Amino acid sequence: MTDPLPSGAPRDRPRRLFSRCYARMSVRMEDEGMRELRVELLTGLRGEVVEVGAGNGMNFAHYPRTVASVVAVEPEPYLRALAARAAAEVSVQVTVLPGTADRLPLPDESVDAAVLCLVMCSLDDRPAALAELRRVLRPGGILRVLEHTIADTPGLRAVQRVADATLWPLLVGGCHTATDPIAAITAAGFEMINLRRLRFPDIRFTQPSTPHVLGTARAPA
Ligand SMILES: C[S@@+](CC[C@H](N)C(=O)[O-])C[C@H]1O[C@@H](n2cnc3c(N)ncnc32)[C@H](O)[C@@H]1O
Repeated sequence: MTDPLPSGAPRDRPRRLFSRCYARMSVRMEDEGMRELRVELLTGLRGEVVEVGAGNGMNFAHYPRTVASVVAVEPEPYLRALAARAAAEVSVQVTVLPGTADRLPLPDESVDAAVLCLVMCSLDDRPAALAELRRVLRPGGILRVLEHTIADTPGLRAVQRVADATLWPLLVGGCHTATDPIAAITAAGFEMINLRRLRFPDIRFTQPSTPHVLGTARAPA
């Protein structure tokens, strides 16, 4: 087993402005359809789960009773404190820990499932994060993802690339919209077992972050 908490591991990533904004925005997003997407993301999960980049804990209330426990890893201190509060209010056992996606505070092959929700776009090293998930997942373990994704039209892709090269990452916590989470997941050796594309929010006005994917992948057995 590799050491789950190497000394000096960077665990805190303070983003003072983004964290305060996200805490408010995430509540509004629930009424725009995110609540239903979170339920779909988590339905059917069982056993021990790791949620990476848990933010202020908006998923916690939606874990089904079949989940025995959740380790929720969050590097941003303000959001992590809110997540700890949210964890105290739900019936599923949730432990909130500092950490980053590429250094999870968990032993090898210790969880049945992993959840990535609106996180991959702000990871600086997606291959390292996915390798770390493969380390902590049991063979054949499940990865559930709800992420925004690169557009399937050239016009919106161009808009995403301009947004990514200018203000978007500064305003939205390091988010890059022209990323392809599913390509990264399959390149890391996971097998996609279901996937759907969707728009969020599902309104007429299209933003760089509108195209989303929701799906399930399986780690090699
Ligand atoms: C848009 S928020 C989504 C929060 C939450 N997953 C949700 O569904 O509401 C992105 C989250 O990813 C976290 N994050 C950013 N970089 C990370 C990293 N390297 N490792 C783990 N989490 C990270 C941020 O701190 C933030 O909480």
